[in-house]
Amino acid sequence: MADYAEMKSRFDGLKAEGLKLNMMRGKPETKQVALSIPMLSLITQREDMVRNGVDAANYGELAGMPEARRFFADILGCREEQVFVGGNASLTLMYDTVAKAFTHGLLHSSSPWAKQEGLKFLCPVPGYDRHFRITESFGFELISVPMDEIGPDMDMVEELIKDPKVKGMWNVPKYSNPAGIIYSEETVRRIASMKPAAEDFLLMWDNAYCVHEFDGDYVEMPDILSLCEKYGNADMVFEFASTSKVTFPGAGISCFACSEANMAYMKKLLGVQMISADKMNQLRHVLFLKDKENTIAHMKKHAVIMKPKFDMVCDMLDREIAPEGIATWTRPKGGYFVCVRTKPGLAKRTVELCKEAGVAVTPAGATHPYGIDPDDSVIRIAPSFPPIDELEKAMEVFCVCLKLAAAEKNV
Ligand SMILES: Cc1ncc(COP(=O)(O)O)c(C=O)c1O
Repeated sequence: MADYAEMKSRFDGLKAEGLKLNMMRGKPETKQVALSIPMLSLITQREDMVRNGVDAANYGELAGMPEARRFFADILGCREEQVFVGGNASLTLMYDTVAKAFTHGLLHSSSPWAKQEGLKFLCPVPGYDRHFRITESFGFELISVPMDEIGPDMDMVEELIKDPKVKGMWNVPKYSNPAGIIYSEETVRRIASMKPAAEDFLLMWDNAYCVHEFDGDYVEMPDILSLCEKYGNADMVFEFASTSKVTFPGAGISCFACSEANMAYMKKLLGVQMISADKMNQLRHVLFLKDKENTIAHMKKHAVIMKPKFDMVCDMLDREIAPEGIATWTRPKGGYFVCVRTKPGLAKRTVELCKEAGVAVTPAGATHPYGIDPDDSVIRIAPSFPPIDELEKAMEVFCVCLKLAAAEKNV
């Protein structure tokens, strides 16, 4: 165990430096965002705005530019007719899907969720706080389901979905936020073949990191839509993706993909809400990214910037923390996070000490429903945004704080 006096003095020394560093934000650094600047000059005149008879500069095509639908279908491995291309953020589409289930019901709902009592939603943990907050805001009881390196505990899921009040489940199947794991083929198969008691069970499949490898080759995932179809669950799933971390976060394009029956139902509801999304941005993106192959090549440029940061973070944890035996962590090959699991009871104190020393880290607990991690053990590190020299300093502080927290509690 690290010596308390030594750690306290290292901590005081770092604190005295008056640092102001941030490992909280899962967003690309400026150099990554700059990779997509050439996209902005691809539409400069009137002729560029019309593609195959569709005018991107005018109303129409509720489900998006056909080229953009084809683009996401290529990336996700589904059919073009199953894709609805929306605006700048997939989170909006996710919120909207839950909201529509609430106000109008889903295709197979006997009544809108708002008219049903005591509804529950499954939340694999650790997970993405914004997912949990969506279902929390609609009054769902959030049920934590532990995840390991191949996905959520499916024995537990299969038990829980026998309850008709369990209406859905969040998922980030590839490079999950924050664990960085990829669901195994068997996990995906078990999910696609579930037999929930709720006739309107909503499988939220957030494929946010579908092309986001920074280490090694592209990893293929099974198409969840056709797999659900195969098991008689075609209408159970909504898949989501966006180019937020491919081009510009907040200024990319997003989509949902679902069965043709769901698409017809959703288009009826969405047609009341909007005439069409920003097709100019959709067209710009398609002209720039072209197809899956070219997008994967573009992501390699992101990888050159991302990989050294993740390597540095994991190497430092190996060097500084592994010998102490006070935490374990993931070594992801894609996505945006490293997930550190401390011995129970150390996460909050570590984050608090980091803050005191001028390093912002995602609040402990954020990875769990209601912001409560019962073991007080999970800390999400986001290495992407700070330049590498700042990240290195921030990680030095993090390691000292974790060791100090452990020494304080004598673990
Ligand atoms: C799992 C996951 N889904 C969705 C988002 C946000 O995506 P968008 O910008 O398309 O709303 C994030 C951003 O961090 C994320 O980690």
